[in-house]
Amino acid sequence: MENAINWSELSFGYMKTDYNVRCWYRDGQWGELEVSSSEVINIHMSATCLHYGQESFEGLKAFRGKDGKIRVFRMDENAKRMQSSARGIMMAEFPVEKFEEAVYKAVKLNERFIPPYGSGASLYIRPLLIGTGALIGVKPSDEYMFLVFVTPVGPYFKTGFKPAPVCIMRSFDRAAPQGTGCYKVGGNYAASLLAGHKAHEKGYVAVLYLDPKEKLYLDECGPANFFAIRENTYITPASNSILPSITNKSLTQLAADMGLKVERRPISVSELSTFEETAECGTAAVITPISQIDDLDENRSYVYSKDGKPGPTCEKLYNKLFAIQTGDAPDPYGWVRIIE
Ligand SMILES: Cc1ncc(COP(=O)(O)O)c(C=O)c1O
Repeated sequence: MENAINWSELSFGYMKTDYNVRCWYRDGQWGELEVSSSEVINIHMSATCLHYGQESFEGLKAFRGKDGKIRVFRMDENAKRMQSSARGIMMAEFPVEKFEEAVYKAVKLNERFIPPYGSGASLYIRPLLIGTGALIGVKPSDEYMFLVFVTPVGPYFKTGFKPAPVCIMRSFDRAAPQGTGCYKVGGNYAASLLAGHKAHEKGYVAVLYLDPKEKLYLDECGPANFFAIRENTYITPASNSILPSITNKSLTQLAADMGLKVERRPISVSELSTFEETAECGTAAVITPISQIDDLDENRSYVYSKDGKPGPTCEKLYNKLFAIQTGDAPDPYGWVRIIE
């Protein structure tokens, strides 16, 4: 290796790796996977991804285990979610098997960038699907490009697994009631930038969005799902405008295995005062416990951690899921794929 990577200095940022994997959809079909060492893509200036947001992406991680093996977590779920996003904004669906093969190749070819076991760092995998056909009218493209690149990222919690504050601001929505909130498409993230920026300026890690129709129910928390713990129950929102998180889906299973009741239902804002623990969950951090939720419109605060420590259930769930991802615990549901 020319330049040794300082694994402990890694942030959640982009670092050039050796290869990416690409595939094109033309004349009604997907071609063969191609390996590229270029970081640049060459597309028409009138491509639909640039003008009309025909773009979907995914995010997943590969981990190096104590046994030296490389594990990727639930990539079939990411593949299926990207297909759902493609249907949602009328793009060509990328086949699940090809998606898995592309991820496999991208990870394997960049093996030297996978952080060592115990560093807390991981290899972030970013699949991308974009409309590349040159159009001016608002119509779906007839040409698409699929691409997977990877980049090593540092541990989300540099100073340990710690609760963080979030806020409610009713003047912003990230998605419309019947819109694209349940798809992983770029437009939702563009729509969340200003609210996220304002929240960061005020010292919060994220905005806890309310349902965009009535603003009565909890939706999701920045780029992560929300869950709460009360009386041995794992409670997470059912909503059409949130992204179905693969981490959340996994945690509901693990919570049930631990003997918790699981409820997926609309959660009223008025329930916030009744929860023992609240948290965000997603690929980036697995779980970010919430220290407090400040409702900036109603001038109310709901405090879940006074001592800077995560709640016991969040901690147990975090440890269990992370152990499965890294190979420290058995994988009873076949969530992990070993890259050989
Ligand atoms: C809006 C949004 N919600 C939730 C999540 C969490 O999903 P996952 O657990 O699949 O990473 C993400 C991240 O992918 C996201 O961007």
